[in-house]
Amino acid sequence: MQPYPSHLVQRVTLEDGSQVTLRPIRPEDAEIEQAFVRNLSDEARYFRFMDTLRELPPNLLSQFTQVDYEKHMALIAVTERDGRQTEVAVARYVVDDDGRQCEFAIVVADGWQRKGLGSELMRALMAAARAAGVRVMHGNVLAGNQKMLRLMHRLGFTARHDENDPRTIRVETML
Ligand SMILES: CC(C)(COP(=O)(O)OP(=O)(O)OC[C@H]1O[C@@H](n2cnc3c(N)ncnc32)[C@H](O)[C@@H]1OP(=O)(O)O)[C@@H](O)C(=O)NCCC(=O)NCCS
Repeated sequence: MQPYPSHLVQRVTLEDGSQVTLRPIRPEDAEIEQAFVRNLSDEARYFRFMDTLRELPPNLLSQFTQVDYEKHMALIAVTERDGRQTEVAVARYVVDDDGRQCEFAIVVADGWQRKGLGSELMRALMAAARAAGVRVMHGNVLAGNQKMLRLMHRLGFTARHDENDPRTIRVETML
């Protein structure tokens, strides 16, 4: 595993004045990551996982929190109150076998949406991937997920129907 990439830690002030810290995830974040997933609405969970899971099974929780910061990067957004952190968003990428491309995913807590956090976190994730030498970022979005498709359009991703799965749109951008 690479050392913790502390240069990716940043404090962000959202348009409504609330402050969050964006930082790479750590193994110790398992509890706040699980709480974050449990608290998502059914819709957000379905759009993210394309599944109706209520919480992350243990293997996925380890995989999501024990990342190597090289082939797999995850940035979380956290708020802090009385010394306790709460996760309010997470975005990650996993580098494809070719080393040139990566697949990403993102989810923002329902109560934190429409404040610009999804845009900030995506930009941070794209910058991290670019700096790591990855050239293309791609993902799959459910065709009914208009919020995500609008975000992708704003960030300059192209979108096309997936020939193998009519339910999903493949989004992609050069980094
Ligand atoms: C899609 C998703 C990541 C967007 O996150 P977000 O934090 O709401 O994104 P932003 O706030 O940057 O942008 C969303 C909208 O809020 C608007 N917005 C941004 N700041 C705002 C503000 N201060 N006040 C009002 N609206 C604002 C944006 O213009 C945008 O509007 P639009 O959708 O009409 O174009 C989020 O809805 C989500 O997690 N969905 C569930 C999971 C999911 O679909 N993941 C993708 C799987 S591939």
